Amino acid sequence: MAKRPVRGARQGAVIEDLLTLGDAAALVGKTTSNISYLVQYDRLRKFDTSGNVVARAPNGGLRVSKSELLDYVAGWNLRVRSRMEELKIVDTSIAFLDVPERERTKHVHRLHPYLGKFIPQLVGYFLSRYFEPGQTVLDPFSGSGTTLVEASERGMDSVGIEISEFNVMISRVKLADYEIPALEKEVVDVTRRTAEFSAREFPGGRRSRPLRAPVEGAGYLETWFAPRSLREMLYFRDIIPEYEHQDLLKVMLSRTARSCRLVHHYDLATPKEPVKGPYVCYKHKGKTCGPVTTILPRLRFYSIDTVRRIAEFKGARRPANSLVIEGDSREVKLEGRRVDGIFTSPPYVGQIDYHEQHRYAYELFGIERRDGFEIGPKMKGKGERARADYARSMAASLRNVSAPMPQGGVVLLVANDKLGLYPGIFEEAGMRVKRSFERPVEDRTERDKRPYSETVFLARLER
Ligand SMILES: C[S@@+](CC[C@H](N)C(=O)[O-])C[C@H]1O[C@@H](n2cnc3c(N)ncnc32)[C@H](O)[C@@H]1O
Repeated sequence: MAKRPVRGARQGAVIEDLLTLGDAAALVGKTTSNISYLVQYDRLRKFDTSGNVVARAPNGGLRVSKSELLDYVAGWNLRVRSRMEELKIVDTSIAFLDVPERERTKHVHRLHPYLGKFIPQLVGYFLSRYFEPGQTVLDPFSGSGTTLVEASERGMDSVGIEISEFNVMISRVKLADYEIPALEKEVVDVTRRTAEFSAREFPGGRRSRPLRAPVEGAGYLETWFAPRSLREMLYFRDIIPEYEHQDLLKVMLSRTARSCRLVHHYDLATPKEPVKGPYVCYKHKGKTCGPVTTILPRLRFYSIDTVRRIAEFKGARRPANSLVIEGDSREVKLEGRRVDGIFTSPPYVGQIDYHEQHRYAYELFGIERRDGFEIGPKMKGKGERARADYARSMAASLRNVSAPMPQGGVVLLVANDKLGLYPGIFEEAGMRVKRSFERPVEDRTERDKRPYSETVFLARLER
């Protein structure tokens, strides 16, 4: 059969070249949302089922061009490799460049955003090489729980220590065991009730008016959410105590809230002022973006996505014990517990504010902040004094948490140690560095797109 050219497409494209978003995602190992993003922001053109370039396709009739997609992916891979050259990294085995997005964000790893979490494949790579099923791995800076989730997939016991109560909640929610039908029933119910509330309060889908400048003295939530979004969020929050899976519902609401803040898309992690109206979006190639005025579409999406991810992890995990301890890793006592080794990515000096990034959740749920116990807090900067404090605190932490470990026990620590602090920290903690591995970091958020690499230090306990 003769192949019909796709009108308006580059030369050589044929109608057989058209793909649904789902097929396109499967072809290049991305998620359907990734492809939809590329289409929405003009990286790929939209076609209808007859091959016409269209501004809008009818429901279910949107297609993309396979050749355009493959060109896009090839261009991306080329950029990544040239960055590796710039960074002088030759060993690609722990770069995970070919790991598709859906694997990088598999099951519960994308249950909630978290700035500073590491790619699960990196954890998996080292756990499989340095630990055995049945052993216990410790992460003294467990953040959103990546190490513990990966350990559990391999039948390894795990212990996490984390200072932030909210991060502890995210990890425990990921690691809990659920009866999926009961969970789904609750998630569906709370979502339906929030939609009903919104329909009552804002009849006919009436848009709220979020675009006035915030009133002086207004709290964080009033400033960073449109009035309708905020009313919906507060309603949802207030009915949580009626349900069994309360922490999971909080995490789901928090994920929804995060994506409904009045922030510019190009500045999600460090927003400076609330969006007041449509704006030209740096992140989305000059497109006009606007403020979110209701949480409902995202809530519906995340409710389905949450249950799906939990169910997927349930199928992937093996019997293992995981424990998350809320506390300061310089102080928590682990005596009497088994710890065979450590895998961790600690905070670095003056880089990320781990509390502030989830301020909306702290305010919404009235969670106590422990900024003062963060090691290397952003607010103290990167000056000489901050570095010295950091090095002392990290050495104290590693010394404390390695107390129950056997001599020679392995310590794997991921850091972008551009200040060269770690050799001294390990020595002070009674550990000796045996090897280090360099890897490039891709997919950085925000505007800073400079090439960036990190080191995985392999040290052994020797004291
Ligand atoms: C780089 S993040 C870890 C991210 C983690 N690997 C993940 O994938 O989610 C470092 C974590 O250390 C935590 N932290 C900072 N100071 C701490 C302390 N004194 N004790 C325990 N945790 C601390 C921060 O709250 C943050 O979550």
